Amino acid sequence: MDQNPNRYTITAALPYTNGPVHIGHLAGVYVPADIYARFQRLQNKDVAFICGSDEHGVPITIKAKKEGITPQQVVDKYHAIIKKSFEDFGISFDNYSRTSAEIHHKTASEFFKKLYEEGKFTEEVTEQLYDEEANQFLADRYITGTCPKCGNEEAYGDQCEKCGTSLNATDLINPKSAISGNVPILKETKHWFLPLNDYEDFLKQWILVDHKKDWKTNVYGQCKSWIDDGLRPRAVTRDLDWGIPVPIEGADGKVLYVWFDAPIGYISSTKEWAEREGKNWKDYWKNEETKMLHFIGKDNIVFHCIIFPAMLKAEGSYILPENVPANEFLNLEGNKISTSKNWAVWLHEYLEDFPNQQDALRYTLTANAPETKDNDFTWADFQARNNNELVAIFGNFINRVMVLTDKYYDGIVPEPATFSEIDQQTLTELKAYPSVIASSLERCRFREAQGELMNVARLGNKYLADEEPWKTIKTDEERTKTVMFVALQIASALAILSEPFLPFTSDKLKNMLNVTLSAVEGSIQWNDVSTKSELLKPGHKINKAELLFSKIEDEQVQTQLDKLQKTKMDNTKEKEETVSVEVAELMPQKETIQYDDFVKLDMRVGTIIEAEKMPKADKLLVLKVDTGIDVRTIVSGIAESFKAEEIIGKKVTVLVNLAPRALRGVESQGMILMTEDADGKLVFVNPSEEGVQNGATIN
Ligand code: MF3
Ligand code: ZN
Repeated sequence: MDQNPNRYTITAALPYTNGPVHIGHLAGVYVPADIYARFQRLQNKDVAFICGSDEHGVPITIKAKKEGITPQQVVDKYHAIIKKSFEDFGISFDNYSRTSAEIHHKTASEFFKKLYEEGKFTEEVTEQLYDEEANQFLADRYITGTCPKCGNEEAYGDQCEKCGTSLNATDLINPKSAISGNVPILKETKHWFLPLNDYEDFLKQWILVDHKKDWKTNVYGQCKSWIDDGLRPRAVTRDLDWGIPVPIEGADGKVLYVWFDAPIGYISSTKEWAEREGKNWKDYWKNEETKMLHFIGKDNIVFHCIIFPAMLKAEGSYILPENVPANEFLNLEGNKISTSKNWAVWLHEYLEDFPNQQDALRYTLTANAPETKDNDFTWADFQARNNNELVAIFGNFINRVMVLTDKYYDGIVPEPATFSEIDQQTLTELKAYPSVIASSLERCRFREAQGELMNVARLGNKYLADEEPWKTIKTDEERTKTVMFVALQIASALAILSEPFLPFTSDKLKNMLNVTLSAVEGSIQWNDVSTKSELLKPGHKINKAELLFSKIEDEQVQTQLDKLQKTKMDNTKEKEETVSVEVAELMPQKETIQYDDFVKLDMRVGTIIEAEKMPKADKLLVLKVDTGIDVRTIVSGIAESFKAEEIIGKKVTVLVNLAPRALRGVESQGMILMTEDADGKLVFVNPSEEGVQNGATIN
């Protein structure tokens, strides 16, 4: 196959319209997909960047029931919010469609019919779970129970979110109806199945042999374990009243399984776009030269790597994806992001709270992208990345270049004199970046690529700091001109190279430098940074400086943390209302002590800033705790109750004047106060009141 085709079909997972989009979706799917699409466009590739709303499936009907509105009202509401927030965030989809669109119903129905007529499905009457009270079959998320693989008690009828296993509802242990809470009965019903087992040889060759080297290990690993487990026929229809009706006779009351219709949504969305733009959609789906990539989250791997490819293969006339770069999950302040628990940073709210600061979030999400493992988003990190990196490095460099050029030369690019060795070295280094960044991007290593982009800004800062044009201006005008010329070249390189990552910044910078950098004739292009001796010519007039990035203040961060704190409290309140906690047997009161005994204890509020397992000790974690007075090491016997990574950032109560003692050779300098919950699990005595600072004394 052509390794460097000029046409790209880039898809991003269609978001469910049962809620708005949050930072987890952005970090996992939409930001990397957008970076990739923008990058390929800058390489003059013919790109179709495709997405749309996933409007079928059980989560939407559940949401509708909960809110007392129709499923259509649910999808209309969230489709509008999601579409607008993507646009405002600069996600550059060529088309954003929706699966309730007529073109999609038609495309998905025809796809099903073709497979049906060609005998690609098997037909089976099986016993499915049925809720007698609600009078309906319980498909997918209508059913919860214990995962047979990992024991998670909250697995869904189609998938366990804990271990990622894809399930059939009847696999669950102790199934329960999500509608009534009842234990379901089994009832016979007819469905159509795609016999995945028939595609085993094809999938083995295509994934395990052909793509062994170039797919991410998390993706490859999940696929391999699926294939090794043996593939089974998979139902592609459901007994539901929300979805695309099964387009054959004798299928009343049945709809296509949402995971059958949704990926076909990529095709329908491409058709919609092609019709509007006067293109041929088949070029993007049926031409072997076209390179197709699916950007998804890890819970979507099996659908995009096994089931959808099997569907495409069964149909016969489609290309298969070249790569399926799936990311792991992003957590928020140490906890799993959850739509139902409202534990999230919602994109549309971010855009309101931080107007014109899209790039600050894009930057942080890429810098912290969960590319190889789950990662954590914290507001403190967001603030630090913005203030210490974007403002202090990138912004600072550009600002100096703009201000000095304006001051010394009225905004006109000066004519350089002779280049010193340092100048030449700097320019040579600069020329290497387009291919360095491109190579990371081609391999979907977005955080690495963005790191290299920042190195361009660092190069600029270092150059100015070393050459000090603000000093030489008094002694050597020619030297100053040369230095400013070189600095201006670095600034314009940044304007081009930042475009995929920081599109709003790139736009501002283009305006400031008075250049166009898009892939049109007569403009500066990505590779010009490597090949041209000057990106900005002497005599070129630049515009006035604008503010590229603004500082994120402590109060803004606090407002966000307060919001989350409130969510936490709302959630506990709800829990208290519904769960009656059994009072555990309590320990009798200890012997009376005097006040003087108590004041000897110096207890402080602290924050756990690092945590690691003590090697070869099951119970011990080695913690670094910020006590306000210092940062100290505390060895704590809590490893059976907590994972190291989940307690970083936790506020705790620390006994700071306990005599140090060595545990397994590590000196422990204090003790963290713990208690137990009703199940005997350890929990921190945690000073969660607002505004409590590290170092505050407890008395
Ligand atoms: N709606 C699914 C999710 O949010 C993703 C669907 S991707 C598609 O997990 F391929 F089916 F479109
Ligand atoms: Zn599981």
